[in-house]
Amino acid sequence: MALLFKVDDSRGSVWKSLFEQHAPDIDVRLWPDIGDPSQVRYFAAWQPPHDLHTRFPNLDVIFATSAGVDQFDLGELPGYIQVVRMLDPGIAQGIIEYACFAVLSLHRQVPLYLRQQRARVWQDHELTPARRRRVGVMGLGNLGVAVTQALRPFGFELRGWARSHKHIDGVQCFAGDVQLKPFLAQCDILICLLPLTDDTRGVLNAQTFAAMPKGAQLINLGRGGHLIERDLLDALDSGQLSDAVVDVLEDEPPSPDHPFWSHPNLWLTPHIGANTSPDTAFEVLLGNLRRHQRGEAMHGVIARHQGY
Ligand code: GLV
Repeated sequence: MALLFKVDDSRGSVWKSLFEQHAPDIDVRLWPDIGDPSQVRYFAAWQPPHDLHTRFPNLDVIFATSAGVDQFDLGELPGYIQVVRMLDPGIAQGIIEYACFAVLSLHRQVPLYLRQQRARVWQDHELTPARRRRVGVMGLGNLGVAVTQALRPFGFELRGWARSHKHIDGVQCFAGDVQLKPFLAQCDILICLLPLTDDTRGVLNAQTFAAMPKGAQLINLGRGGHLIERDLLDALDSGQLSDAVVDVLEDEPPSPDHPFWSHPNLWLTPHIGANTSPDTAFEVLLGNLRRHQRGEAMHGVIARHQGY
């Protein structure tokens, strides 16, 4: 019974040595050295090959090494294979740091002050107190909730939106399609942390931006597929949105002539919000493997019909 990793070489060797030290009974293999494919029961990857279940006839569980599972073609996988997302506390920490950096930068108008610096303009602008800045989080899973709690001490007015209703300390929560517009109307800064599914693809579009207060700001920490890029450019150019911070794109890396590289009101970072680190993720993965071996429910198993 083997666990096969398909990850980059340096991370692969870290995973392998962690298993050798702490769980030597598990036969860990690193792609492309797959050995006898019929022995592979567990598969862990960020980008999987397409023919997983035909190549590995005894596959039981796919562990995403990422928080998102949209890179897997769930429709193609037989229902008996469980798909598990990565609940690494290191991912949550990375997302918290990025969200706080981006929210505080936008709140304190850092993009504007950097534009002024480049133009040699020394001019201050009215300072909005955090208690009058409304920050909305779309997607209230473990990452969205962690971000709201990390933002609380600053005193922002926090809003949250999810498919179904949630109760979160210090956050006014909205749910479902009917409450989307009322939620958006209260987002001076909107953070997208949704999973990418058929329902959420393209959710950051012209209608969404129009429903936000004029001059609002956007942070996309979800997936590139959430955003209609042309609509964001139009919203920035018209002033409907004043600034955006974008960490994820539909096509990564973007082409050299992609307009996001040079738009003055947009900060672009190369999908660095969070990274799974074997150091913190190992315990999570091993815990799930042991649960599976004992016939218990694993943590982070996705509901296949929901796609997350
Ligand atoms: C990274 O984008 C992840 O889903 O963990």
